[in-house]
Amino acid sequence: MRKLLVTGGAGFIGSNFVRFALAENSPVVNLDALTYAGSLENLADLPNANQHTFVHGDICNRELIEDLLEKHEIDTLVHFAAESHVDRSILGPEQFIRTNVHGTFTLLEAWKQAWIRAGKPDHWRFHHVSTDEVFGSLGPDDPPFSETTRYAPNSPYAASKAASDHLVRAYGATYGLPYTISNCSNNYGPYQFPEKLIPLVILNALEGRELPIYGDGQQIRDWLYVEDHCQAIWTILQRGAPGETYIIGGANQPSNLLVVQTLCDLLDELAPDSQFAPHAQLIRYVTDRPGHDRRYAMDITRIRQDLGWQPRETLTTGLLKTVRWFLDHQTWVESIRRQQDYQSWRARNYDQRTSASVEGG
Ligand code: NAD
Ligand code: TYD
Repeated sequence: MRKLLVTGGAGFIGSNFVRFALAENSPVVNLDALTYAGSLENLADLPNANQHTFVHGDICNRELIEDLLEKHEIDTLVHFAAESHVDRSILGPEQFIRTNVHGTFTLLEAWKQAWIRAGKPDHWRFHHVSTDEVFGSLGPDDPPFSETTRYAPNSPYAASKAASDHLVRAYGATYGLPYTISNCSNNYGPYQFPEKLIPLVILNALEGRELPIYGDGQQIRDWLYVEDHCQAIWTILQRGAPGETYIIGGANQPSNLLVVQTLCDLLDELAPDSQFAPHAQLIRYVTDRPGHDRRYAMDITRIRQDLGWQPRETLTTGLLKTVRWFLDHQTWVESIRRQQDYQSWRARNYDQRTSASVEGG
């Protein structure tokens, strides 16, 4: 039984993982700074809630982390806490360097000290959750990203995550820390903050707002249902080899436009009383994101062959579950809609984007 410290466990993926780990009967200490992206409402109705300890704090606070590691006899750290949105990193990169680079460094330092003091146990794990964005963009005929793909980050977000991956790897090589890293593709599902494409489209469509498509909408992402991601991380904790990296993906590569059109069709079907149906009429092409990566695709051979994991959800089943979840969780949706940051972010990111005409679009 692992004793887990989860960082960023009040955010989207972190809160899903906390729920997953508690359901597996693992005790979880959850450290989160509750930025705009984190919320205690993401942690409502946890299974085995008596096994969950929430700590409101910052991963850059070394003293706090040392204290938590010792007091709770932690042997496994799963590191989600980050600034995670590319568009925000373009408008304000500094916080990304602080949290993603300095925060990861601080965790590693505290972890190293605790691990050495405990006699360097082999079974301890520092699991670092990273992204496919560290690899940059694929051309139409390039092979998918694998564990050996060269790093070539294009956004400040991706560069800060790349730096944190390098730090984790270096602490393994230099000090012998038993770590694992996973680089996953775009997640979607319950509790995702509606600044990212899929929840943004669902919330905007239900309010009759425009559905903004950056550029020509032909960019390609590999979409991973969040519960599949949690299962993959859990599998890595159980069976992953120390010092190893694993690529995690959803085994699908639709264009952004196809994702948005599918969401509109699902909303037409599942919210038949919506006054804004057919929702596809809300689609608008807007000014593109600078440095926008064109295509991501994931080669999940290693995790499938070595650890026996593969995604359970297809894009169709995952999007259906997701739309249903948002329709069934209106209290959660309303609490986000009231959030000041959500409203000001929409104005900051979208007001200056002009409509773009797209050939054939
Ligand atoms: P998120 O933005 O929803 O949540 C991040 C959480 O970290 C929030 O709860 C926030 O309060 C917390 N946090 C931020 N700064 C902190 C700090 N200094 N100290 C403590 N807590 C802090 O992010 P997410 O989408 O759940 O992503 C989780 C991880 O997965 C990130 O490391 C991200 O880079 C990675 N990832 C996400 C995706 C995706 O599609 N969402 C894809 C690939 C990788
Ligand atoms: P996003 O959800 O922000 O994730 P990431 O940048 O990490 O891939 O964006 C997913 C894709 O959708 C990406 O190609 C950008 C595009 N996108 C839009 O077209 N419109 C939007 O309003 C947003 C937020 C994203």
